Amino acid sequence: MTTTQLEKPVAARAVKTVKNPRVKSGFHPRTCAIAGVGAYVPERVLTNADLEKMVETSNEWITTRTGIEERRIAREGEFTSDMAAKAALRAMKAANVKPEEIELIIVATITPDMLFPSPACLVQQKIGARRVPAFDIEAACSGFIFGLEIGQQFIASHTYNTVLVIGAEKLSSIIDWKDRNTCVLFGDGAGAAILQSRSDTHGLLTACMGADGSKAELLSMPAGGSRQPATAESVSKGLHYLRMDGKETFKSAVNAMYSAAQEALRRCEIDISQIKLIIPHQANRRIIDAVGERLGATQDQLFVNLHKYGNTSAASVAIALDEAVQSGRIQRGDLILLVVFGAGLTWGAAVIQW
Ligand SMILES: CC(C)(COP(=O)(O)OP(=O)(O)OC[C@H]1O[C@@H](n2cnc3c(N)ncnc32)[C@H](O)[C@@H]1OP(=O)(O)O)[C@@H](O)C(=O)NCCC(=O)NCCS
Repeated sequence: MTTTQLEKPVAARAVKTVKNPRVKSGFHPRTCAIAGVGAYVPERVLTNADLEKMVETSNEWITTRTGIEERRIAREGEFTSDMAAKAALRAMKAANVKPEEIELIIVATITPDMLFPSPACLVQQKIGARRVPAFDIEAACSGFIFGLEIGQQFIASHTYNTVLVIGAEKLSSIIDWKDRNTCVLFGDGAGAAILQSRSDTHGLLTACMGADGSKAELLSMPAGGSRQPATAESVSKGLHYLRMDGKETFKSAVNAMYSAAQEALRRCEIDISQIKLIIPHQANRRIIDAVGERLGATQDQLFVNLHKYGNTSAASVAIALDEAVQSGRIQRGDLILLVVFGAGLTWGAAVIQW
């Protein structure tokens, strides 16, 4: 029997008996709004003055080179899924969504409670959601935009009506607190968004995402995965800590964030002056200013809260978005631009009509 003979009856049967379940619901894409946001940061504040006692650094160096003044650190026994669940419950409250209405949970993180099971499954249990699909994505600091775009696909395709997307990190668990090059930069926290189709807004208009694996070495945690499982040697060499080439990462961040933002604006056929608020990844004030300047944005358009939280990776823009909404910087109908960058390398920009 030839391959063609084998394939034909199968294909014919498939056409006859299999119906695309999406067709039943119309299969017309629909818009995806952020129906509510929420954030959580741990209580413990670690200031630059505290860090001066831990490593050879100064408040002056940290603030002038990064803009960071303090960051939050999770308490002992508080894990990524705990912070994620708290942010999620706040987003659910803001969107007026009950746990049983959530149909999909996506958690973006590089600091899961453990390698498996995923924090997303733990969050499902902690917020009292049903046995709905729950999984993590790993796009480092770009994770929240990647998560929004994935969640959006499920809303647009009518697969689900309510999706929970969370960015959450306990970066303090992978920081070498003796390395002044990295320990001053990062913090812990979580931010969450409820996605739904809403008739009063277009919501997530576009998300441009990209990655460049050839620059993977710039920012990584070398051990703990299949390449270098934990051994006494890997621990003694400090391979379970975050490592970074700061200068190169800085340059790549500015270029990638600028290009992604430009592409997102181009796709929406708008220019920067039409954007009410730009919410960039909160890694370094100088990166934010450089990207803003290249985009032709005013200082008023740039949302900055990194002086309070440092870089919280996947949680960063989610926490900032929540703060921008809470403080009245964004009103329904406004156009906002999220722009992110992270290890991978990864990057992304999203235009949202609030
Ligand atoms: C890390 C970063 C703040 C360093 O700033 P920088 O302007 O590049 O710093 P420089 O390279 O000019 O200076 C480095 C010097 O400061 C020293 N230094 C580093 N951290 C320090 C600290 N916390 N306190 C005091 N001195 C420090 C270095 O040892 C080095 O000293 P040397 O010149 O004697 O070797 C910056 O490169 C950065 O933000 N990069 C991007 C990081 C990032 O955002 N990562 C996450 C992306 S998602």
